[in-house]
Amino acid sequence: MQSLTIPRPDDWHLHLRDGAMLQTTVPATAAVFHRAVVMPNLVPPVTTVEAALTYRAQIMAEVPAGVRFNPLMALYLTADTTSEEIAQAAANQHVIGFKLYPSGATTNSAAGVKSVEALAPVLGAMQEHQVPLLVHGEVTDSDIDIFDRERVFIERHLIPITERFPNLKLVLEHITTADAVEFVKNANSNVAATMTPQHLLMNRNDLLVGGIRPHNYCLPILKRQSHQQALQQAALSGNPKFFLGTDSAPHVQASKETACGCAGCYSAPAAIELYAEFFSQHNALDKLADFASGYGADFYQLPRNTETIELVQQPWTVAETVDTATGPMVPYWAGADLQWKLRG
Ligand code: NCD
Ligand code: ZN
Repeated sequence: MQSLTIPRPDDWHLHLRDGAMLQTTVPATAAVFHRAVVMPNLVPPVTTVEAALTYRAQIMAEVPAGVRFNPLMALYLTADTTSEEIAQAAANQHVIGFKLYPSGATTNSAAGVKSVEALAPVLGAMQEHQVPLLVHGEVTDSDIDIFDRERVFIERHLIPITERFPNLKLVLEHITTADAVEFVKNANSNVAATMTPQHLLMNRNDLLVGGIRPHNYCLPILKRQSHQQALQQAALSGNPKFFLGTDSAPHVQASKETACGCAGCYSAPAAIELYAEFFSQHNALDKLADFASGYGADFYQLPRNTETIELVQQPWTVAETVDTATGPMVPYWAGADLQWKLRG
């Protein structure tokens, strides 16, 4: 049997939720990943270091015995975020950065930012304290087509931000377009991007052809194939600016399979195998280790993990549903096959 050993990976973009959902989401991610950047879009959002540490303790309470898992907390940037909070975040090893959600862009983003321009003082403080800015890069204007929202956000906001704050560390999260790839490639070394399994493995045909597939619906929405190919090329190129961030985003089945379904793909139960599937489809499994376990740590100036995991070439089928305390959930890739499996 073919096998592949890589350093233990980290997930640089993850939603765990809170309450009883943590009983499902924390063990699923901690089984594979050592560190994970935990997104703050709870209700209410996690806006302070204090709230993040309380949330982190709830997460740690669900880590199975004997498992080493290190959640790195992202705080939710709002119009009220202060320079003091940024200084506190910089001083706390459990806080990794601030997440910018344009108001209304995605799940639980109502408290997000309405004017990116008004953030200038806060971004200046983040640059000064070397606190990374994690960005959901989509405009929300009703007159901008949903498939263009990432490109327009880059033009209107990201290019000006990176020009004005060249020393600000910035991660464009879950990129979906050739425009995002070009932006990140052309920006200086303080700018990087995370990539999800669904945006590497799928395009909008997988969402809409033959019927609407709610479990492939996430934001930013899947784009046309040429954009998918640009993302694939970026991941396959071995450019260290592009690294793993699953954006695993759990929603129960009833919230996805409904007239107005939630955005988000719960990929955690098969996360590393999904990336292995992508790299193996392109005969590039040798690129998985740096993408999953190297470049993200390097960008955040954290040590690479020294433990390893082993993947074996052994076809398996992702479960149709996962039980949670709040009802069944349909994972991403449910009922479909993958060629590689985590051993153990
Ligand atoms: C995420 C969620 O459900 O919290 N959903 C998604 O479609 N990706 C939020 C986000 O990252 O946009
Ligand atoms: Zn997300």
